[in-house]
Amino acid sequence: MDVVRSERRGAVALVTLNRPQALNALDVATLEAIATRVGEVARDPGVRALVLTGEGRAFAAGADIAAMRPFGAVEAGEFSRLGHRAFAALENLGVPTIAAVNGYALGGGCELACACDWIYASAKARFGQPEVNLGIVPGFGGTSRLVRRVGVAWAKEIVLTGEMIDADLALRIGLANRLFAPEELLEKAIAAAEAVAAKGPLAVAAAKRVIQHGQDADAHVANVLEQEAFAAAFATEDRAEGMTAFLDKRAPVFKGR
Ligand code: COA
Repeated sequence: MDVVRSERRGAVALVTLNRPQALNALDVATLEAIATRVGEVARDPGVRALVLTGEGRAFAAGADIAAMRPFGAVEAGEFSRLGHRAFAALENLGVPTIAAVNGYALGGGCELACACDWIYASAKARFGQPEVNLGIVPGFGGTSRLVRRVGVAWAKEIVLTGEMIDADLALRIGLANRLFAPEELLEKAIAAAEAVAAKGPLAVAAAKRVIQHGQDADAHVANVLEQEAFAAAFATEDRAEGMTAFLDKRAPVFKGR
């Protein structure tokens, strides 16, 4: 049984964490499988968007506590670096990624969702960084990506208290972009992914890159990155097609060239 499944829905890759008996807890094999699935998507020019979700009642209930219990500092460091590598690969994918958070997104699960471009959540979702309950700190981006997503004060409250927050609060603080009824979540996430998949893929990838790197740069550098990306877009066949199709009053056919 694959601990992380991947299937194609047209131009959308649907990636599903598949250890429901452990609430999709993240062990070494699962983190490696995430990296493998992301690598497959990166190499497949037919995939234009990715939706990530969890099988069963959790998105992911965090790093696997049973697997971590025997770790010393060396093993913990390797584990943290593996998680960071896998999540950075996801974050840096050229196609948009949507986390469809169907249940618990705790610890590494919340960090995994934050490595996606945005989060759609089931009304049943629960988010949190419970590491302090175990005497540890977040290890897969909870002190960095979560801060960028919700701001310092909310990130501190979530990380330092270790308390779970519900879907409504996640929506209010901008952790989740939208909430859906549980039975609607996946179809809404796939529909959103399909909608982005129909746009010019080079433009989508460039816009994602500029936002991603621009937020870590100062405002001047961020604006220069945007100017360069804007200019580069005019060298693509897609932009000629997009503008011509608009003026011809027809739908564009983008080729990613
Ligand atoms: N690591 C390893 N196993 C986990 C896990 C984790 N992070 N989270 C859940 N599981 C396992 C449980 O041990 C249990 O296994 P078992 O059936 O063999 O006993 C199974 O998943 C179901 O979890 P359970 O705790 O029985 O479900 P629940 O509905 O009572 O509680 C949670 C759900 C999410 C509140 C609870 O599982 C939990 O607090 N998990 C840990 C969250 C955490 O601290 N994550 C951060 C780790 S750094």
